[in-house]
Amino acid sequence: MTRKICIFDTTLRDGEQSPGASMNSQEKLVVARQLVRLGVDVIEAGFPASSPGELRAVQEIGSMVGDTAVVCALARANEGDIDAAVQALKTAKRPRIHTGIGVSEQHMTKKLGITRDECVERAAHAVAYARKFVDDVEFYAEDAGRADQDFLLRVLQAVVDAGATVINIPDTTGFCLPEEYGACVKRVCDSIQGIENVVVSVHTHDDLGLATALALAGVRNGATQVECSINGLGERAGNASLEEVVMAIKLHGEELDAHTDVRTTEIMRASRLVSRVTGMQVQSNKAIVGANAFSHSSGIHQDGVLKARDTYEIIDPADVGAIGSEIILTSRSGHAALRHRLSELGYTFRDDEFDDVYKRFLEIADQKKEVYDEDLESMVQERSREVAAVYTLAALQIQCGDPLVPTAVATIIDEDGNKHVVSATGTGPVDAAYKAIDRVVSVHGDLEEYAVKAITRGIDAIGEVVVRVKSEDDKLFVGRGSDTDVIVSSAKAYVNAINRMITMQRSRED
Ligand code: KIV
Ligand code: ZN
Repeated sequence: MTRKICIFDTTLRDGEQSPGASMNSQEKLVVARQLVRLGVDVIEAGFPASSPGELRAVQEIGSMVGDTAVVCALARANEGDIDAAVQALKTAKRPRIHTGIGVSEQHMTKKLGITRDECVERAAHAVAYARKFVDDVEFYAEDAGRADQDFLLRVLQAVVDAGATVINIPDTTGFCLPEEYGACVKRVCDSIQGIENVVVSVHTHDDLGLATALALAGVRNGATQVECSINGLGERAGNASLEEVVMAIKLHGEELDAHTDVRTTEIMRASRLVSRVTGMQVQSNKAIVGANAFSHSSGIHQDGVLKARDTYEIIDPADVGAIGSEIILTSRSGHAALRHRLSELGYTFRDDEFDDVYKRFLEIADQKKEVYDEDLESMVQERSREVAAVYTLAALQIQCGDPLVPTAVATIIDEDGNKHVVSATGTGPVDAAYKAIDRVVSVHGDLEEYAVKAITRGIDAIGEVVVRVKSEDDKLFVGRGSDTDVIVSSAKAYVNAINRMITMQRSRED
């Protein structure tokens, strides 16, 4: 039997730190549910000291996850952060605190202003303090990839002696080459006393496009935990992508002496979900989950694949869930059929909620003849986005064409139930709709990015719009909206971004 490699997912923490990828607590819960279905071993649910909302989100994830996975919370090496993590993990059946400190010269002198001795002392104290509250404490040696390697060993020995159960060796800046990083992991495995009782973890970033290669070099050299994220989401260029790491281990298990327990058929759904929730599109040529990952366009390749799939495909698309669903619902599908399919997709509703869901399903089914899984996912996720709606778009009428002046009339309901009917003209229908919405909402946002894509095939497909809107204090907010009418999707996406902006401002004021 090969070594079991624990998959530590950090989509909800490092991934959520990507600019504009922030998720509200409902969205975090939806993603966490999918991570459970995927079968990851550890879910890093957030950084509780960063805000009360984040702390509550980690609590909610803890109660939802139960004992199906370890739930982990990040804390810098200070008692305040660790206390917040303890609070946040109260509901978790298998809690882990992930604490740590910078160990490279750059971090110690330029960021923290501490000596090496102080660094070792703070690291050991943080671990010992966290161990008073939970049995599972992971230590991260931030920027280990660029640290003096003898000093790294000194810090790691101190935290193992202080009770760390997992030691994480991050290449925080994605600077290393795979051989060098592998050698660093090997040195740790060979030199730390008591290492046999400790899990060695790798956490790599993609600044040189090497994150997956680095993570695998770590596994080859003794690591038994990999920290990664769906679609490789994470700070700057991102983290090692979960789907790449898991599939590489699946295909090269013997050579790496490794296997994971991830249910790979859930990968595609996880990728789509995270992309939709964060508004971060997956590039078409992205390994494993990109739209082109399994398409063959050149004649020679098509000919080869038709003769034998393995001429050009190393992965069966079905293994990662990249085959379209065969189940298609229509307006004739009843409550039971919809409820059954939604529960297979992992969504369950109370009876009173389900009536609303069914109504929305019928609206979509009336507009489109066939409703696919992707439509259902988009419909359900749209509901979770609008739970904390400050403004809701109730209706939108557009007049446009050549030579008409594009004009929008929008009906918007505010959180107190007041109805506002507003109109505006613009350079195009979307511009007119946004100007009309701006007449009601209390904040101003500059549109930085706008993208529209069809969720399923056909001319009647649902069109999903993702926008990035910049607030007056230069923060980016993603908004999403979907409808069979792309102008309505556009307006919903803008209102969604405005709602996020207001909710975030309120939580900061809290
Ligand atoms: O990249 C990094 O060093 C991190 C740590 C907080 C684990 O994300
Ligand atoms: Zn990181």
